[in-house]
Amino acid sequence: MTQRLAADQTGIDAAARLLGSGKLVAFPTETVYGLGADATDSYAAARIYAAKGRPSFNPLIAHVADLAAAEREGIFSGAARQLALAFWPGPLTLVVPVAPGGTVSELSRAGLESVGLRIPSHPVALKLLRQVGRPIAAPSANRSGHVSPTTAAHVLADLDGGIDAVLDGGTSAVGLESTIVGCVGDTVVLLRPGMITRSDIERVCSRPISLPDDSDRDAPRSPGRLEAHYAPETPVRWLGNGPVLPDSAVLAFGPVVPQGAEIARVVHNLSPSGNLVEAAANLYSALRLLDKCGATAILIDDIPISGLGEAIHDRLNRAAAAARVL
Ligand code: TXA
Ligand code: MG
Repeated sequence: MTQRLAADQTGIDAAARLLGSGKLVAFPTETVYGLGADATDSYAAARIYAAKGRPSFNPLIAHVADLAAAEREGIFSGAARQLALAFWPGPLTLVVPVAPGGTVSELSRAGLESVGLRIPSHPVALKLLRQVGRPIAAPSANRSGHVSPTTAAHVLADLDGGIDAVLDGGTSAVGLESTIVGCVGDTVVLLRPGMITRSDIERVCSRPISLPDDSDRDAPRSPGRLEAHYAPETPVRWLGNGPVLPDSAVLAFGPVVPQGAEIARVVHNLSPSGNLVEAAANLYSALRLLDKCGATAILIDDIPISGLGEAIHDRLNRAAAAARVL
């Protein structure tokens, strides 16, 4: 049985108690809903992997309430500290070397000598983290490879019965998973694009950031970067790669309706005014909606690739890659 908890003090108390006793509780963050468990308890981390059906080599992000808690878990170099001060609490995950005496379990880190840390800005998440008083491991609260949840109902659609509770804090405002930046060696690496953009990061660190070197097989990989990921059941492709088909669904962007869209089964617009922030916030609910309309394919309109567009392209390219491997 999965308990539905309201995001009031009673609900947060109950969620904190469950987490403190090794249970799985999904909770809202400003990016997407996380599937939380005590990050210091390897049994709890094992339950996350089982509930998600996630390959156990994927490390989990540990969520903490403040910088002091983050510094107990990880070593913050110059760049990591600058980024933490600039963007926390917020939609940024920093991958840093594990601090001596760090408490995040080895299983939660998937055996790596680095740890992914984040202070979310969602007030319910912050209250919960303060109340639990230890790091909470939380991947997105979906079955592995599926679209991330931005509401409690999305969480239940994937995980009802498989987790202990969900704390309902409404819709996640950002709608895309956090930007992940690696600060392990001498370089600053963009492991996953997100709401905090490449240029935001470069401005704060005063240096260019690199993309991960996928040819380096020893480098800690960020499996959010696995090519096929974030996928609805219906095949996804970019409209630029072929014509609109009669049984397809079109995911439009901006004021101009894509050419030929009138023959599609459904047209859904991510942001009629062409606003990337609005498009990011709507992306996963739109994919879920179109996935349920019986279309043979989901066709994606042109979306600018600059700024937040880089993260939107990243997720949609993965959804399209998943369609190719099915
Ligand atoms: O917005 C978010 O980040 C959400 C909310 C719940 O905070 N969480 C999330 O978690 O998206 P998840 O597990 O779906 O994605 C976390 C990514 C994974 O791709 C994982 O491999 C990477 O973070 N990661 C975590 N620790 C890492 C490490 N030490 N080295 C490299 N990648 C790491
Ligand atoms: Mg995920």
